[in-house]
This record gives sequence, structure tokens and C-alpha cells, in this order.
Amino acid sequence: MSRSQLPHAFLFAIGVFSVGCTKDEGPLYIPEPVTLDPGIPMDTVFFATEVMPVFQQHCWVCHPPMGEMDLSTGVAYDNLVNVPALGYAPALRIVPGDPMASVLWHKISQSTTYGLNMPPNGTFLTNEELQTIRDWIEQGAMDN
Ligand code: HEC
Repeated sequence: MSRSQLPHAFLFAIGVFSVGCTKDEGPLYIPEPVTLDPGIPMDTVFFATEVMPVFQQHCWVCHPPMGEMDLSTGVAYDNLVNVPALGYAPALRIVPGDPMASVLWHKISQSTTYGLNMPPNGTFLTNEELQTIRDWIEQGAMDN
């Protein structure tokens, strides 16, 4: 238990003893504190306006030509979602709803399951950009 939680535990104990002994109203309901990292989007991720700019900035320079995966506007979606990876078939580049089954997620999240990490040229995606792509895949990789 961390230092900051101690006073709460103390007050809770007093509460249980003072209230709990006089009346029997069943177990107390203590809600879990909601901890959200600020800046992590909880809303719908849009492919066209949020995911594509990341691909354009970090990936497009090599993808059309590399891995026969064209990330140009208009064709990127059809090159990604439910498409077997050229180098890792039958694994799919993106499996809607399942980042851990998606080759692309492994390659951008420093996993060693599918060869080179992306991008392989010494540039990196920010945590926010990674979160955007992960959320988009988890939300069903929609063409929205
Ligand atoms: C400097 C060039 C370069 C950049 C930038 C780059 N890639 Fe790649 N990518 C490659 C090469 C080369 C391959 C083929 C070798 C391999 O599979 O690791 C590849 C393969 C892939 C594959 C596997 C394709 C398949 O079907 O086998 C995926 C998925 C991928 N890249 C995603 C990305 C993403 C997402 C980005 C941007 C975050 C990115 N790449 C940026 C060079 C690049």
C-alpha cells in the first residue's frame, strides 16, 4: 500500500468500526478510483483523419515499394485490413479488434515476433501515435 493510501485506509477503518458495529447494512460499497492517463483518447479513432496521418508521416516513404504494402491515401485501408502479410502469411497485417494478432501492431510496438521493427530507419512513433493505432485496431479497424 502506498503512502498516500494510508490515511484513506485509516479513515475507512474508523468508518467500519463506528458505522459497522451499530447497524448491519451489508458490506460497504467502496468505488475503485478511476485512473485515466491524461491525453489517452477514449473516443472513437478515425482512420482517415487520425491513423492515415501517422502512416503518411512515418511509413509512406517506404510503403508503397517495401513489402508490397501501399500506404498511399485511398488504397492504404485495402492494403492492411484482413490482408495476409507478404512476409509472414498466413498472419494478417491487421486483424480488426485484435492488435496482438496483427503483424503491423507487432512491428510498430518493438515486438520481435515478425522480423524488423517499423519504422526501421531510426525514427520512432510517439506513445500517443502508438495508442491511436492500437485503439483503432481494438475498435474494429473501421474505414471511417
Ligand atoms: C525505411 C523504410 C521503411 C519505413 C519507414 C517503414 N517500413 Fe515497414 N517495411 C520495410 C521493409 C524493408 C519491409 C520488409 C521486411 C520486413 O517485413 O520486415 C517492411 C515490412 C513491413 C510490414 C510487413 C509487410 C508484409 O506484408 O510482410 C509491415 C506491416 C510494415 N512494414 C509496417 C510499417 C509501418 C506501420 C511503418 C510506419 C510506422 C513502416 N512499416 C515504416 C521498410 C520500411
